[in-house]
Amino acid sequence: MVNYRGSSLMRTSLTSKFLSRKQSPTAIALYIIFLFAFSIVIFLFNAGNIVEDKQNPIISHESHSQSQSQSQSQSQLLQVADEELWGAPSSHGLRPCVKPTSRYKAAQGSGHYLTVKSNGGLNQMRTGISDMVAVAHIMNATLVIPQLDKRSFWQDSSTFSDIFDELHFIKTLQGDVRIIRELPKELELVPRARKHFTSWSSMGYYKEMMQLWEDHQVIHVVKSDSRLANNDLPLDLQRLRCRALYHALHFSPPIQSLGKKLVDRLRMRSGRYIALHLRYEKDMLAFTGCTYGLTDAEAEELRIMRDNTKHWKIKEINSTEQRLGGFCPLTPKEVGIFLQAVGYPPSTLIYVASGEIYGGDARLLELMSHFPNLVFKEQLATEKELKAFAKHASQSAALDYIISIESDVFVPSYSGNMARAVEGHRRFLGHRKTITPDRKGLVRLFDELEGGQHREASSFSYLVRQIHKNRQGAPRKRKGPSPGIKGKARYRTEESFYENPYPECICSSKAV
Ligand SMILES: *[C@@H]1O[C@H](CO)[C@@H](O)[C@H](O)[C@H]1NC(C)=O
Ligand SMILES: *[C@@H]1O[C@H](CO)[C@@H](O)[C@H](O)[C@H]1NC(C)=O
Repeated sequence: MVNYRGSSLMRTSLTSKFLSRKQSPTAIALYIIFLFAFSIVIFLFNAGNIVEDKQNPIISHESHSQSQSQSQSQSQLLQVADEELWGAPSSHGLRPCVKPTSRYKAAQGSGHYLTVKSNGGLNQMRTGISDMVAVAHIMNATLVIPQLDKRSFWQDSSTFSDIFDELHFIKTLQGDVRIIRELPKELELVPRARKHFTSWSSMGYYKEMMQLWEDHQVIHVVKSDSRLANNDLPLDLQRLRCRALYHALHFSPPIQSLGKKLVDRLRMRSGRYIALHLRYEKDMLAFTGCTYGLTDAEAEELRIMRDNTKHWKIKEINSTEQRLGGFCPLTPKEVGIFLQAVGYPPSTLIYVASGEIYGGDARLLELMSHFPNLVFKEQLATEKELKAFAKHASQSAALDYIISIESDVFVPSYSGNMARAVEGHRRFLGHRKTITPDRKGLVRLFDELEGGQHREASSFSYLVRQIHKNRQGAPRKRKGPSPGIKGKARYRTEESFYENPYPECICSSKAV
């Protein structure tokens, strides 16, 4: 749902202005004082209450040993602060595990074909395609390379091979499912069974669907998103989903190569960086009815957009309640206050993965006043390099994806398909640090700050850090449905398989 046409010209001029400013000695002195004050806060914080993570008690050992070493000397103290900001949570020996069990067999499926229309944005398509690999395996069918969504909000004409490495996809899954580029000529005109498969279906559902083979040689799947349950599937099927998404579905060579270049350029700028998925686009705000911090005219513009978008069912939204419930994307300003409170210094390099920010540069300035070192891909890549990506939202999103996966820290300002996919992939790759803002808790603290209740910046920072202690991407099992919700609705409340493929695709070394 994101529109990736950014106001690149504005961004370039704005940021270069900030970037070109030399750091004055006063600024450096202030920075050192800030770091010092901050490490004291950390020291007090760690030496005091160490809150046990109930879901994941293994974490607390680490905190104990850290607080001991912190009391030794000040230089070490700074180091620990640095490690807390940039270090990945401990994986506790957990590793990716995607190998099939000894019972597993490839699907031969030579006579039956599955054609797929993959819907949604880049990450909805990626996870949907991985699910379709699993569905083809259950149904013993040959999978035809999926067609990508061209009509959706994204308006991207890219084909599968523009975005993904098709040959690699086919070859990697050779031992799982037969995949072919196109339906054989003689089958092009035979009537297909057109199916809207039920959302979050079980393996049993697809076994039943195999009855369709009695009358049809080809099944056409009209939508690929969320067609397969998150939980209660055989281990081999879950691992197949991981092989499909993480091993087989690589981006095409041009995307992969530019993505790597951009990561290298970021590393050259400062060694390490935060990737911020700043979900603050017009459609998102209109959809969620979030108007906090906007002008009346802007709020009205969003209301009209919501009214006019037929497939958005909910029209009346109380923005205040929405925000207090934690259902609004953080504003750029809130993101700035948040990251500062977590302890990132103003010089931190932040890569902004996003579409066009609603309210434009004026609103972005509210983040830049805290973190002047913001970069967009328009500043990292030359015009010539980006030319091939213009008007291809999904390819552009793929660059953001690569940069987000490779970042030292990933921070999504809102949940969504991209945030979930990146978080899950980072968990899979070794629990790279992902800080997931507790939006509900933060909004309460922001309002208290606004109301003058936190006169000490350190006490505010302490509270922010406290509620994010266990939201850093450390290992934990995928969450099941919310309690008390019955029937189909509970599937909606489960944590997505691709947001956290633990335990099926992440195991302790012993268990592999
Ligand atoms: C899968 O399909 C092949 C033919 O394409 C068939 O020989 C095999 O028995 C099928 N396997 C299952 C489990 O149905
Ligand atoms: C929205 O909700 C808030 C908090 O519950 C309430 O104070 C306010 O009056 C509501 N606004 C409207 C327009 O209903």
